[in-house]
Parts: sequence; structure tokens; C-alpha cells
Amino acid sequence: MMATETTSATPILQVKDLAVSYGHIEAVKGIDLTLNEGEITALVGANGAGKSTALLAISGLLKPQRGQILFDRQDLTSLSPHKIVQSGVVQVAEGRATLTTLSIAENLALGAYTRKDKTNIAKDLDWVYSLFPVLQRRKDGLAGNLSGGEQQMLAIGRALMAKPRVLLLDEPSMGLAPLLVQEIFRIVQEINRTGLTILLVEQNVRQALRIAQRGYVLETGKIVLADSGSNLLNNPKVLEAYLGG
Ligand SMILES: Nc1ncnc2c1ncn2[C@@H]1O[C@H](COP(=O)(O)OP(=O)(O)O)[C@@H](O)[C@H]1O
Ligand SMILES: [Mg+2]
Repeated sequence: MMATETTSATPILQVKDLAVSYGHIEAVKGIDLTLNEGEITALVGANGAGKSTALLAISGLLKPQRGQILFDRQDLTSLSPHKIVQSGVVQVAEGRATLTTLSIAENLALGAYTRKDKTNIAKDLDWVYSLFPVLQRRKDGLAGNLSGGEQQMLAIGRALMAKPRVLLLDEPSMGLAPLLVQEIFRIVQEINRTGLTILLVEQNVRQALRIAQRGYVLETGKIVLADSGSNLLNNPKVLEAYLGG
């Protein structure tokens, strides 16, 4: 193992020996992940490696066969998805999943459905609109009329409206044109700079590891490498398998 950076990192979310199956196919085979508070942690791997399955289990949308999900000393493992969102762990689903027949403003309001702190909701809406000016310009328009990149922004904005303490992002750059990919990675960093902890699932391995303090490489349901983002970027195995030599 190469030396990792010395930080005063505090774990905020820990996944221990997580295993998730579909019928008798085990998609996630006992993985351990630690997210440090305020950091971006990347979870990278090929299509089918089990990244989304792991995120869905953390969000409570899939029931694990075994293992534990600990968040800020609370055990999330058997909580409902709703309670998990309320506790502060919020996922942006793969493929955007905005409500296309509702307006942008309505989609964002729905993100805050578990909250009661009205003043802060208004502040967070201003913040989301400052992150994504296009959403403000088009706030009364239907979400269904947004481009793919704009829908991804709306999906992220909606998750932020839930006031997460940990944001789970499932391939935010998927299917976007190169310029928009840059824009999404820039915004992920900007969100992180407010202190928000992020678990970033990506197939865009180079970009994800560039902005992540730590990274994990998942292969067919198992973590095969765990290191700092910069060490992983220079790891010969990562270079060969994911970065075209
Ligand atoms: N709903 C499902 N039913 C059965 N198998 C699934 C289902 N979703 C995913 N899988 C399988 O689980 C494995 C992991 O998938 P997934 O977590 O989506 O990987 P990734 O997000 O890394 O691309 C794959 O072999 C996939 O075919
Ligand atoms: Mg996936």
C-alpha cells in the first residue's frame, strides 16, 4: 500500500461488509466503504460492477443480505428510505428521474418534502438557483422540456433541497456532452466546498478520481483497490484497466 495523505478526517458514513443480491445473484459481495466528513469519495468501476446496487442499499431502496450502514453513529441498515433521507443521506438517482410533468420549481419544492424549516428552505432554493441559473430562468417551465444536462442539474438541485449531510451521486455525467460533463464535475466540487460530503459513483474514472480525496475501485461486486484519489490515478492497475493504459 502506498502512503495515503495525512488528514484529520472524521468518518461520517461507514459501510461494513455490505452484500446485496438480486434473487440468487450476488451483485455486491461484502464491501467496506468509509466516507470522511467534507470529502468527495469516488466509487468507480465498469458497467455492471455493482455501484448502483451499493448506492440503492445505502439509500434503503434495496435490502442488503448482510452488512451494516452506519451514519454519524446511527445505524441506517433497517430504516425506510424516507427515514434515511430525513437523517441526511440523500441520493440523486441514476438517469435523472425528474418529474417531467411538473414544473422545475415544483420538482425543487418536492425535494424539501421532509423538511419543516421554511426560512431555510427558501435560502436553499436561492442557493440551488445560484448553482444552476438555468433552473431559475426556467422555473415555471416543465421539467420534461429540459435537456439531459439540465435534468441532471434539476435532479441534483432537488436532492440539495432535502438538505443532505451526505449526497450520493450515481453517474451524474452519464450521457452528457463533454462540455456539460466538465460543468457537472465543476458543480460537484462547488457543492463539496460548502462542506457537503459526497459519494460520487462514476464510470468517468479519470475525472472522478481527480476531484475525489479518496476512491474505491469496484469489480464484480468487490472492492479491489482503496486509496487516495491521486494515488489511484497513478496506480498502474487503474491506468491499465480504466484509463486506457
Ligand atoms: N433489478 C435487477 N435485477 C437483477 N439483476 C440486476 C438488477 N439490477 C442490476 N442487476 C445486476 O447486478 C449487477 C450490478 O449492477 P449495477 O449495480 O447496476 O452495476 P453498476 O451500477 O456498477 O453498473 C449487474 O450484473 C446487473 O446486471
Ligand atoms: Mg449504475
